[in-house]
Amino acid sequence: MSVKATKKEERFSTLYDIWERRWVGSDSEEKLTRLGLQMFKAKEKSLSKLLGTLDVKNVIEVGCGLGHIQMVYKKLGYSNFGIDVSPTAITVCRNKGLDVELCAVEEETRKFDLVSSDGMLEHFLNFEPMAQHMMRLSSRYVLIIQPNHGSFMGKTLPYLAELLRGDDIVMEYNYRIDDFIDIFKRNGFTIRQNIPVFMDVFRILLFERDDEGQDNPSILSS
Ligand SMILES: C[S@@+](CC[C@H](N)C(=O)[O-])C[C@H]1O[C@@H](n2cnc3c(N)ncnc32)[C@H](O)[C@@H]1O
Repeated sequence: MSVKATKKEERFSTLYDIWERRWVGSDSEEKLTRLGLQMFKAKEKSLSKLLGTLDVKNVIEVGCGLGHIQMVYKKLGYSNFGIDVSPTAITVCRNKGLDVELCAVEEETRKFDLVSSDGMLEHFLNFEPMAQHMMRLSSRYVLIIQPNHGSFMGKTLPYLAELLRGDDIVMEYNYRIDDFIDIFKRNGFTIRQNIPVFMDVFRILLFERDDEGQDNPSILSS
């Protein structure tokens, strides 16, 4: 193994340890602020509306965390499965009755109609390899929910959260929404929906594999 590969692995394992530290204790008491809960509710509302327009049967939630987004898929009746690198997150999801496995997206091999992920990519210094793993697992769609650092509230809220919660925050990079759109395009996935959520603090970005979507261009909103 090259020195470069070893260093890369070390960096990843450190980030994965940080996630485990973030969730530790959540199996007895969930660490979610009232604001956090409101954000998930807003995501649920937008997701439910969007999913009704898609032909999707099965979903994988990559980085299922405490299961809030996966629960939306479950409630809507999709065959759903979640993976995460944090053992505590997996315990929390199992306690909620979700079908999950302790697994990194890099290790997963099964294919899904929809590969979904909320709040994971922005924590990587270079998110493209992780995005490529998500695309590899998708037979049609990838849906990511990303913070929008370009909006006023998207700039303000993370700053306030860091002031209030300090070390409890897992550091993120302030990618632009267009960075995600460009990288997915470069890898053969076209943006189909770009939906502002919770005062535009987040965007739901829905991508479709280019060889699937030629005859079905959806309307974009921004
Ligand atoms: C912001 S949290 C997700 C919260 C989640 N959306 C929810 O509904 O509770 C991001 C999650 O991604 C997980 N993660 C990070 N890198 C990962 C990887 N390579 N494969 C799978 N999960 C990963 C972290 O452990 C963390 O739980």
